[in-house]
Amino acid sequence: MTAANLGWCTDGCVTDQVVRFYEARARGGVGLIIVGAAGVDPVRKNQHRMMQICDDAYIPGLKNLTDRVHGAGAKIFAQLMHAGAYAKQTEHDGEIAVAPSEWFCPFTREKAIALTVEEIREIVRYFGQGARRAEAAGFDGVELIGSAGYLIAEFLSVATNHRKDAYGGSLENRMRFLTEIIAEIGSQVSPDFPVIVRLSGTDFVEGGNGPQGIRGHRTAAVTDGGRHRCDRRLARIGGAPDHQQRAPRHVPVPGQEPEG
Ligand SMILES: Cc1cc2nc3c(=O)[nH]c(=O)nc-3n(C[C@H](O)[C@H](O)[C@H](O)COP(=O)(O)O)c2cc1C
Repeated sequence: MTAANLGWCTDGCVTDQVVRFYEARARGGVGLIIVGAAGVDPVRKNQHRMMQICDDAYIPGLKNLTDRVHGAGAKIFAQLMHAGAYAKQTEHDGEIAVAPSEWFCPFTREKAIALTVEEIREIVRYFGQGARRAEAAGFDGVELIGSAGYLIAEFLSVATNHRKDAYGGSLENRMRFLTEIIAEIGSQVSPDFPVIVRLSGTDFVEGGNGPQGIRGHRTAAVTDGGRHRCDRRLARIGGAPDHQQRAPRHVPVPGQEPEG
């Protein structure tokens, strides 16, 4: 079952409503539940009543969730997220959103500021800590959201990454944030703890990555695996395109066009 933010958490904590929702899916026969995204950054928290995994205080609530889902017979993964430029200031305690490069984000209609290398390294550590907490809370693995225009996808995409340093430019450089996260997670969890990545098949954004780009990510990830053990840890699931995409969502059926 693919990840979907239910918007039912309170102050980032799992509520009984969330637990009952996933437990019912497990009883209904779902084999692997990937829970809606959980925020790893303690400063730029996801609001929207989203799940948080940015502090040890969230572990007991998450443990209750995994126990109940396991009791109902399914496996359960946490999805680790940093919203990047998609973090609206009004929903993040007024914190200005961050991105690989300064960018006026068409989705939030707000400016995001470019991360410094020091800040990038800090966020890499946040992902590692999020994975450690997920394992401590009984999750069977973690998925990184590298799709849908969030921070990892913003680094991967040529449309949003205009950096001139080691994190921008070539495919290897644009993947560096992701591969560093995978390596950091590897140092914080058990050796057999699964880590998977959700990547978009295409950005569906003008000037962004198309299917060629995504094939490159896969190839580079496996190549990079020699150093970071990504080959054992990385799988591709496929994911939604960027939120600011302009792909047509509704195609009228001939003869059934709405009036006016
Ligand atoms: C309300 C809602 C919340 C979502 N939250 C997430 C999320 O947290 N992480 C994620 O990777 N995808 C998320 N998605 C995308 C879904 O996983 C899925 O890719 C999308 O709904 C398309 O699949 P469908 O055609 O079966 O609905 C969300 C989708 C919806 C509608």
